[in-house]
Amino acid sequence: MGKYLTEGQLQSFRDDGFLVVPNFVSDQHCLQLRERAMKLAELHVPSPEEATVFTADGKPQHTSDDYFLTSGEQIRCFFEKDAFDEDGNLRAEPHLALNKLGHAMHDLDPVFDSFSRTPELAAVASDIGMRDPVLLQSMYIFKQPHIGGEVTCHTDHTYLWTEPQSVVGFWFAIDDATNENGCMWALPGGHRLPVRSRSRLNESRTATVMDVLDPEPYPLDNLQCLEAKRGTLVLLDGAVPHLSAANTSDKPRHAYTIHAIDGAARYPDDNWLQRPTLPLRGFSLN
Ligand code: FE2
Repeated sequence: MGKYLTEGQLQSFRDDGFLVVPNFVSDQHCLQLRERAMKLAELHVPSPEEATVFTADGKPQHTSDDYFLTSGEQIRCFFEKDAFDEDGNLRAEPHLALNKLGHAMHDLDPVFDSFSRTPELAAVASDIGMRDPVLLQSMYIFKQPHIGGEVTCHTDHTYLWTEPQSVVGFWFAIDDATNENGCMWALPGGHRLPVRSRSRLNESRTATVMDVLDPEPYPLDNLQCLEAKRGTLVLLDGAVPHLSAANTSDKPRHAYTIHAIDGAARYPDDNWLQRPTLPLRGFSLN
């Protein structure tokens, strides 16, 4: 028995590489975060030249790469690819065309800070064996009705590489996530497969490149659908392949995610996310 998770839950996380924990956060806290995210989106709308668009394979496109590459210490808005018409104009109000906010709300905004740092989260991190967890990035994902894009199969270790591998995703359903509105899917036991690619900065540090370590695609026929009611926490091992479909429904699918790494692991200086001026902190508020 852990401090928060049961032995059965821990075993399931070890076996599958993911764990769905319903009722982890109250509806009230989810709605408070949702409201704050909408406000931050309004406050941080970038100029059209700065606006970054996200494609399904997670690459920033048509944009100043700098806006993305320096977002590790900022609160920034990233847009859906379908948010723009043929002439490059936004089809909807900016706050309705967003793909996500990233990547330091947990350190820069008090509402996100307190949502991201609770005794329950600290207990879960300790239960799964994280000795010195530090919060590396936060993302608020809008997955808007009709335009919310798919996220193709990937592992988080690919993007947040540490040696040894240590990243864990803490994903929260802020709205109900269903098969209809683009819930996550993950490959049970897939965390035991070697991670097949690594994204890193190029030599001039002006863009990211993907090193393919194994070109074999992940087997996708055994994926498990991770439907999740509002307030559910989904834990994801950094090596477990996961994806989510586009949201073709008329319901939003907001989610919040934190990625934590082991503070003692080596963090390469060619990872895209660098925090030269903002120190990393753990799960406790003070
Ligand atoms: Fe991911």
